[in-house]
Amino acid sequence: FPVDQTRAFGKLILFGEHFVVYKVPALVGAVSAYTDCKLEYTTEPGLEVIDNRPAVPLYKEKKMDEGIEAINLTLTHLGVDTKKSGVKLTFGGDLCCASGIGASAAQVVSLARAVNIADSRSLSEDEINAAGYEGEKGYHGTPSGIDNTAATFGGLLRFQRTEGAPIFDKKTLVSPIRIVYASTGITASTTEVVGDVREKKEADEAWFADLIGKYTKLCEEGQKAVEEGDMDKLGKLMNLNHEYLQELTVSCKELDDLVVAARAAGAVGAKMSGTGRGGLMIALTPTEEIQNEVGSALEKLAPQVWKTTFA
Ligand code: MEV
Repeated sequence: FPVDQTRAFGKLILFGEHFVVYKVPALVGAVSAYTDCKLEYTTEPGLEVIDNRPAVPLYKEKKMDEGIEAINLTLTHLGVDTKKSGVKLTFGGDLCCASGIGASAAQVVSLARAVNIADSRSLSEDEINAAGYEGEKGYHGTPSGIDNTAATFGGLLRFQRTEGAPIFDKKTLVSPIRIVYASTGITASTTEVVGDVREKKEADEAWFADLIGKYTKLCEEGQKAVEEGDMDKLGKLMNLNHEYLQELTVSCKELDDLVVAARAAGAVGAKMSGTGRGGLMIALTPTEEIQNEVGSALEKLAPQVWKTTFA
């Protein structure tokens, strides 16, 4: 089974987590770490899942039920009935599963790729992405689709949810974007946090409209900064996006501490990334030296730290 053809990437959101659920643009970068999936049909009906993905402690336990639900939704969408034919799935790859990195999306997209190969279908990349989106619904009811789109297509994407298919395009970078990301070690439930944001919005629509308006302007400027390779501006905008996320109450002390430490160590900008209330933070570190400094500073506080580049 050509497992390497089932790879799906992790992602980090540069701008727009939570806001993107409400159909405003966001910027997301795929990381090179991936999840892959081997699919074998078995004689006994039923679903067997072997999960060899590396993960931060407790991630898999906390996500187990949602994960099985996501796998079943993806298989059903693709017309695979485990009551008729048994399916054995083996997930692997080098993506370390942590809240915020899009591990769930990478898992269901790699599964869709595996079905495509096992059944000798010729699904398009858009169809693979759509299957991943169905799976993401197992994790929370109203996914924007940003995670599965980054998992499927890779690169740095401007992404916008619509009533129909999402709109997205790949950005060409003038220079690589060097970053450090760190896990708080806390796994939050995306369903719960997205639900809380919705409640806050419904309780005060005027406040939310003002905040999302400010965010949308910020995201436009952020895109420009990416296109111009202006790292100082990009960093300042990441800091501001973090403030907006604090206002949404999706950050937490652990994330704020990491953000402050990264900036103190020389990052030109830092923010939480993904669901929040735990999960990950991302710091912009334009040179290798700053990246190493920030990495060392974060290692003193965070259980896990990674250095990478959007290229
Ligand atoms: C999760 O990576 C990003 C959220 O905005 C949820 C979503 O877009 O579906 C929190």
